[in-house]
Amino acid sequence: MQRVVVVTGAAGFIGNAVASRLHKDGYIVVALDDFSSGRNLSVEPGLLVVKCDLRSREQVEDNLPSEVDAIVHCAAQSSGEVSFDDPWDDMTRHVNATLRLLEVAAERGVAHFVYTSSMAAYGNPFELPVKENSLLNPLSFYGAGKAATEHYVRLYSSLGMSHSILRPFSVYGPGQDLDNLRQGMISIYLAQLMRSGHVVVKGSLDRFRDFVHIDDAVSAVVAVLESEATHGQTMNLCSGKAVSVREIVGSLLACADAGWDVVEIVENTPGDQFGMFGDNVLLRNLADWEPKWEIQEGIADMWTKAKSLASKDNNE
Ligand SMILES: NC(=O)c1ccc[n+]([C@@H]2O[C@H](COP(=O)([O-])OP(=O)(O)OC[C@H]3O[C@@H](n4cnc5c(N)ncnc54)[C@H](O)[C@@H]3O)[C@@H](O)[C@H]2O)c1
Repeated sequence: MQRVVVVTGAAGFIGNAVASRLHKDGYIVVALDDFSSGRNLSVEPGLLVVKCDLRSREQVEDNLPSEVDAIVHCAAQSSGEVSFDDPWDDMTRHVNATLRLLEVAAERGVAHFVYTSSMAAYGNPFELPVKENSLLNPLSFYGAGKAATEHYVRLYSSLGMSHSILRPFSVYGPGQDLDNLRQGMISIYLAQLMRSGHVVVKGSLDRFRDFVHIDDAVSAVVAVLESEATHGQTMNLCSGKAVSVREIVGSLLACADAGWDVVEIVENTPGDQFGMFGDNVLLRNLADWEPKWEIQEGIADMWTKAKSLASKDNNE
């Protein structure tokens, strides 16, 4: 029998890719988003994103089908930097929205709740690679919202709804919003370089991150949906490799055939982690998942696809 999966944040980067993949794989997908920042209206032919603000109990009740097998909850305010503009709004999009969804999901007997938390819950790590049992010490309101929301999800699990929590690291790839210069790192530098030939890096080139390609992030979500061993678990979703900002800017410059003279370094944003990479053994073992993309090929592929989209837009 076809499984019914609700995907929230489905007009956003990860939710949209997850909803598309599940639809292709034959799941019945209900895609929800309030369009506060997401702009991907249609996912796959035959699948539309329905407007729903998860903070409203009424809207969640109206849009959550009576029979749901699983929920993949990706909706959120997704930028650490933006969370400092309005911490209250940020909190409502993490805690309040998730709590409303959990309440109605529990009433309707949803069996499995998959939550996309974030590596931002760790803050500056005390050990590297960071493991799931490392201390959570968020540096941004965004990270604090993620850490708090994880606890709500776990508490609902103790009330009978199984959960799996993923902590994605820096997800990148085609589909990322190139007009949003406050979320993402590769997408921001790529958009700047492609549009103005100039890159502004907020913070040191020595900072490092763990980048995971969108295809690998989506395959992780699918693997988690299909593996009971992940129930009750919190798992890093990462490549397990540290890559410096210098390396990614260098790769993008090579794609653009540009030199370091177009790069400007300015002060970093509040709440920015200095260096981060994760241990992904738990997710590999429990979900039988492994990341496929290497960072250089991922960046080159993203550049080529963004270039061809831009020239298509210019010709229309
Ligand atoms: N992209 C990354 O690198 C990354 C890394 C770690 C964690 N995450 C987390 O993964 C999830 C998906 O990330 P993304 O990059 O796709 O973010 P995104 O900003 O592209 O998408 C989030 C979507 O949630 C929607 N939304 C916000 N508030 C809502 C509400 N109250 N009701 C319904 N929809 C609402 C937005 O309109 C947007 O479409 C987020 O929870 C994010 O925090 C992302």
